[in-house]
Amino acid sequence: MKRLRQFRITQEVRDKAAEVMLKTDQFIYPLFIVEGLDVKREISSMKGVFHFSPDRVLHEIEDCLRYGLNKFLLFGVIEEKLKDEKGSAAYQPDNLIAKTIAQIKLHFPNAVIFTDICLCAYTNHGHCGLINNSIIDNDSTLPLLAQMALTHARAGADFVAPSAMMDGQVAAIRNLLDSNHYSSTKIMAYSAKYCSNFYGPFRDAAQSSPSFGNRKTYQMDYRTISQGIQEAAADIEEGTEWIMVKPAHTYLDMIHSVKNNFKDKTLAAYHVSGEYMMIKAAFAAGYIADEQQAFTEVLTAIKRAGADIIISYYAKEMAKTLMKNQ
Ligand code: PBG
Repeated sequence: MKRLRQFRITQEVRDKAAEVMLKTDQFIYPLFIVEGLDVKREISSMKGVFHFSPDRVLHEIEDCLRYGLNKFLLFGVIEEKLKDEKGSAAYQPDNLIAKTIAQIKLHFPNAVIFTDICLCAYTNHGHCGLINNSIIDNDSTLPLLAQMALTHARAGADFVAPSAMMDGQVAAIRNLLDSNHYSSTKIMAYSAKYCSNFYGPFRDAAQSSPSFGNRKTYQMDYRTISQGIQEAAADIEEGTEWIMVKPAHTYLDMIHSVKNNFKDKTLAAYHVSGEYMMIKAAFAAGYIADEQQAFTEVLTAIKRAGADIIISYYAKEMAKTLMKNQ
């Protein structure tokens, strides 16, 4: 008989045996930015997540920094009437996200700013790229994504995070950044991004649902494995610093194999809106007794699978929990 229960006998023993440890500096907190002043509005599809105006997000960031949470992923949310076919507001100079980055960097130079690079929240059709003959056109989208990244880099973004799933998006961004002397701006590529049903609450939050069709011609089919590895390999070849698997909770196997294939690369995993809301909803309905323990378990599982960095709407709650347990 193997006596393995000895490793579980007390809290001290369990702590000593633990192999996977969450740390606040491994988390990125997504933030949704809207125009206006003094806006902090809870998003109806995402309990505990808010729309912030650029002035109010400063308070949120200050609060997070108190808990040691210093990495933020910004999403812009604009009014329908400002959207057009080409998603122009995404890459106009001094746009909403550029203004927000500049403000954050002015007040909190140590905050690490990541920005989502995708057109879906800025196009009137809600697709991530330009439409040409009813097809989401890859190559004509690339310069616009690169321009969007340059706008953010100029404003002071530390990382740009292309999520449009256009082939060649990392290379297009890297080239434009480098030729404009932003070679120190890094890329966190949404490499293995699957076409998932769990983005629903986010699309309400970002008002970025496609007005027709779906994203299956560019985001990955969830029945595939090797394409995820190929996507990561292509992004690395094109010059990305960090790679990502998304979603996370339902794709632990992909996190594990991408990590094993690219051991020396920083791997992020995105615990997405639907995965977040499943825990929230189960807790609200009384099916899960302790929300904090439930999200700690899920986030630990994502880390255990091989993620170095976790993007989560629970990041702030997790940071609070980690500080309390110190
Ligand atoms: C933009 C983007 C999406 C998410 C992150 N960036 C939506 C999508 O691809 O439809 C989803 C994040 C989440 O669900 O939390 N393309």
